[in-house]
Amino acid sequence: MVNINVVKDLDTKKDVLLLGIFSENVDFYKSINPELHSKLEEAIKRKSFSLKKDAYHSFSLNNSVYEKIVVSYLGSKKEFDLERIRRAIYNGIKVAKQNKLKGLTCNVSELCKGLTSDYYLGVAIGETIELSDYDFDNHLSKEKKKAKIGFASILWTGSKDFLKGLKDGKIIGESTCLTRDLVNEPANIVNPEYLENVCKNIAKNNKNVKLRVLNKADLIKKKMGGILAVSNGGGVSPKLIIIEYMGNPKNKDKFALVGKGITFDSGGLNIKPSGYIEDMKIDMGGAGAVIGTLNAVSQLGVKQNIIGVIPTCENMVSGSSYRPGDIIKMYNGMSVEIKNTDAEGRLILADALTFADTDLKANTIVDLATLTGACMVALGYEASGLIGKNKELNTSLLNAGFLSYDRVWELPLFDEFMSQMDNDISDLKNLSSVGNGRMGGAITAGVFLSKFVKDAKWAHIDIAGPAFMEKNRFYVPKYATGAGVRILCYLFLNKK
Ligand code: BES
Ligand code: MG
Ligand code: ZN
Repeated sequence: MVNINVVKDLDTKKDVLLLGIFSENVDFYKSINPELHSKLEEAIKRKSFSLKKDAYHSFSLNNSVYEKIVVSYLGSKKEFDLERIRRAIYNGIKVAKQNKLKGLTCNVSELCKGLTSDYYLGVAIGETIELSDYDFDNHLSKEKKKAKIGFASILWTGSKDFLKGLKDGKIIGESTCLTRDLVNEPANIVNPEYLENVCKNIAKNNKNVKLRVLNKADLIKKKMGGILAVSNGGGVSPKLIIIEYMGNPKNKDKFALVGKGITFDSGGLNIKPSGYIEDMKIDMGGAGAVIGTLNAVSQLGVKQNIIGVIPTCENMVSGSSYRPGDIIKMYNGMSVEIKNTDAEGRLILADALTFADTDLKANTIVDLATLTGACMVALGYEASGLIGKNKELNTSLLNAGFLSYDRVWELPLFDEFMSQMDNDISDLKNLSSVGNGRMGGAITAGVFLSKFVKDAKWAHIDIAGPAFMEKNRFYVPKYATGAGVRILCYLFLNKK
């Protein structure tokens, strides 16, 4: 956690000074600090500072109160968007951490004043400070822990909206880091009970948050055949966690967030081979994103009722595992033939979707899941797949994605896809037979889910790609990224 404060001039000594420059005004510092300007000019000439978006140059000055100065290139004012400012903030913090320096002062806030709303400028800076300071080092010994910054001073002389944004952004950043930790922690630590305890803490610390948990006996009583079948391989006891934030109790409208919480996906009897199984602790990334979002909205004081619904268990191999060929009965009464035990996410989500739709009577449901490798093939690490038929909901998610840069991209639910999960010996099967289940795999998974929502507006977000990265991209770290939290927070900010 970083101590962020706002300053009216740059005199505060804070180890690293982060400055920005725009293409319209590369000579901005010429009259302010000629020594600094000539260093920059020289670096540009030597091409050690390329004037490419998000590039930076770091150096020291004689007689400066700052240990390091970082100048980040913000591109042109005409094309400005919040991502420029996030990456600039990251550049400054990166240099601070590399040099084990604790404090950052920056002027990019003030430089960008007027280019976007003061509020969102604050949000972007507040969140990125927290996002950039994150490292997953819980299991490293003290000497190996990563350096962190402790303080940030942000230059600002404009409206109070910025200060509110900064505060809200910090909450969003911290909540995203909570999700990152949940996803990074291995399955021997993060299991359904652990997720329940994290939710308990959120409920304890935030007014308006209540927790309800359906345990195995309750799931049996309710006949939630999808969750029960997947969890049958054992390992841990399944749960349906319901974490409810009532931000507008006078209103009956409810927004449900459903998150896939497979705390380890071995594939079941259709076991995953080496190369595919190692990272499967991340298969609760949807649940993690829902928990992080609930943590954020309750602290942000969003004026909506938002309910997290988390089906959680492991998908394991044992004598009691569910089998290929099994026909199970789902919570909504439909029968499903299991064609592949590794297509388990849709089964636990289906019961949770029915619960959100019929028990909670949510008006809107968005589910998040590390659902398919096919979605990663389609969109890589750069966007989550968005599936759903409600244009208005899709558009608001697309926009929240662009603004937060936690992006989604739409995949079509064409009529021709809608029958591809139908079966001749049961209502549905859990794998399409078109191209052995491989053709349009992200979409057919979405088709399956769509059969379990009758009344609510619904969208599905497949975060399998962006949830976990092979290498870092600015403030999005290697390994768990917290994908899903920021797009949802931005969605709710819009309506505040
Ligand atoms: N959890 C996986 C999807 C996944 C893969 C998430 C890689 C993150 C990274 C999911 O349960 C799964 O196994 N999906 C199968 C579906 C197939 C059997 C139809 C897949 O994608 O191969
Ligand atoms: Mg699987
Ligand atoms: Zn899975």
